[in-house]
Amino acid sequence: MKDYAKLWLAYSPKKNNRECGDLKKIYISGVSENDKIVKNAVAELKAGLKAMLDIEPSIEYGSAGPDIKIQNGKDMQDKEEYTISIKDSGLEIAAKSGAGILYGAFDILRTVACEESVEKAYAAGKTVRPSNPLRMLNHWDNMDGSIERGYSGESFFYENNEIVIDERTKDYARLIAAVGINAIVINNVNVKQAASYMITDRYFDKLAQLGEILAGYGIGLYMSLNYASTIEIGGLDSADPLDEKVIEWWKVKMAEVFKKIPTLKGFLVKADSEGRPGPFTYGRTQADGANMLADIVKDYDAIIIWRCFVYNCKQDWRDRKTDRARAGYDNFIPMDGDYHDNVILQIKNGPMDFQIREPISPLFGGLKKTNQMLEVQIAQEYTGHQIDVCYLIPEFKEILGFKTYCSEKDDTVADIISGKTLGSRFSGIAAVTNTGNDFNWTGNYLAGANLYGFGRLAFDTDLSAEQIAEEFVRMTISENEEVVSAVLEILLPSREIYERYTSPLGIGWMVTPATHYGCSVDGYEYDRWGTYHRADHLGIGVDRTDKGTGYALLYNEPNASMYNSPDDCPDELVLFFHHLPYTHVLHSGKTVIQHIYDTHFEGYAQARELAAKWDSLKGKIDDAIFDNVKERFERQLYNAREWCDQVNSYFYRKSGIPDEKGREIW
Ligand code: GCU
Repeated sequence: MKDYAKLWLAYSPKKNNRECGDLKKIYISGVSENDKIVKNAVAELKAGLKAMLDIEPSIEYGSAGPDIKIQNGKDMQDKEEYTISIKDSGLEIAAKSGAGILYGAFDILRTVACEESVEKAYAAGKTVRPSNPLRMLNHWDNMDGSIERGYSGESFFYENNEIVIDERTKDYARLIAAVGINAIVINNVNVKQAASYMITDRYFDKLAQLGEILAGYGIGLYMSLNYASTIEIGGLDSADPLDEKVIEWWKVKMAEVFKKIPTLKGFLVKADSEGRPGPFTYGRTQADGANMLADIVKDYDAIIIWRCFVYNCKQDWRDRKTDRARAGYDNFIPMDGDYHDNVILQIKNGPMDFQIREPISPLFGGLKKTNQMLEVQIAQEYTGHQIDVCYLIPEFKEILGFKTYCSEKDDTVADIISGKTLGSRFSGIAAVTNTGNDFNWTGNYLAGANLYGFGRLAFDTDLSAEQIAEEFVRMTISENEEVVSAVLEILLPSREIYERYTSPLGIGWMVTPATHYGCSVDGYEYDRWGTYHRADHLGIGVDRTDKGTGYALLYNEPNASMYNSPDDCPDELVLFFHHLPYTHVLHSGKTVIQHIYDTHFEGYAQARELAAKWDSLKGKIDDAIFDNVKERFERQLYNAREWCDQVNSYFYRKSGIPDEKGREIW
């Protein structure tokens, strides 16, 4: 037995196999049977159908289309599309590339694994075209084996500054390909120490090997790049993007890198951010830096993904003019249109940093001529460290559905990142991933729902959070209806429950500095990171209106006016945009202070209900899964209690206003 979980590739025997049809034959058309992704797809199908239904379908290949290489960008969606239909006594998967066949194969396996009827699923023919060209995971793995913001063990890519390739590497590729991921960045955006040498011959062989394994599952290899490589490993004294010596060094370097790692698709760059070097040091713009690299990698059909997480991280708390929320917009909007074709700006979903609730970054809908990619975080940095259950797909659905009003139609974040709004060739969605070498990959077994869900949603944005969660439960825990309902009742409300017992009304932060787990109301208040709640004895919140930092006005209308007015701003974000007295009455009819008390008591009570629901599953599911999540729930309840007590007590002491319901506040 392997020492880690197979998650959605467990392929356990199905009782209900009559539903699945006889599947004697699988026809594969449009591709060559010699394509290595097709071979892997066939191996998956055969192994999965044998294990689940005890059948061995024969495989027939139809005529192959022309040999194609999937190029980075929009045409990926055409090539990765697949159609499944019923043919004779079996199924046909048709696609224009091996990747399309692979996704089709996993579609069939999912249908069988969820015990859905194959007849029903495919009778009318099912065509799926991926919603986004790039569906990417960003690993924040360091070469010493640690993972920045990792909550599920150490890296499975690195150990002692070496790249590890073993059985787990391939299983990981299979797991993420099965949910539709087609790109990964394999190292931390903070590129330091050994990682700076990933573009040298110290690591080329292993990287080439890794790239081949990933390519066999339709996954493109990307690396994070140290912007100051010219200085740190190149022996130059500058990283000025307009300096000829610097440009020449990169040209030679990239020629070597792409020759040695032929599967490499591009780089992710964190520049001028949190102490990382960048073009600002030389008085150049972000566009100067990104374009210089992009022009060089263009010859290799590669791209530069440039992060917009650029802000002043050394703010004085007395400074009320500087607003970290504005920084992405202010730094990137002026050069809209200047970024070259093979640059994508990667934008965090909110303007701050993956808080449990934030408005959508105004760069979406603000940038009108630039390729864009959304960055979300399934590593639960601020959302419970994979100790607390927090199913994030409902949040991602909200983000994707947000109307930016940047154009008459096709103006949601989903439209923008799919490439529809601007007709961009390069676009997509990335998640900072939540995996590590723990036996079950994600620490808390239920955090696997975020890995599963992110991939599924990136592939098909129209899927609902409920459907995705249900698939996850059926494939990885149990198909028993009682179990399915109970786990769904835990997963689906978990994000709102986490929000209730942590920071209220969009204010964010209030976490323990540095670790970001547990409550510390003032932890970030007097620190340098620009992360304030501005609570005093009269009120709380940050004035980001036209009378404050002006951030609200960065949105297109009618969003700008909505956020700018305390009366129109949605309750859940009101303290993000407004400094309000504790007695201010929300749309809910409650005062701000009563809302704080109520949500904290409720959130803690609801967390206890989730834990009790999990307890009711004892004996009905695998013991290892039960024990793993139970142990996390014990820690979650402690955490929720601490948050509830500390936040309530803090605001009671600040405001002097008692709880209407007279509950115990310390
Ligand atoms: C957060 C996180 C860091 C990370 C950074 C980033 O600030 O705490 O660990 O490096 O985001 O996204 O670059």
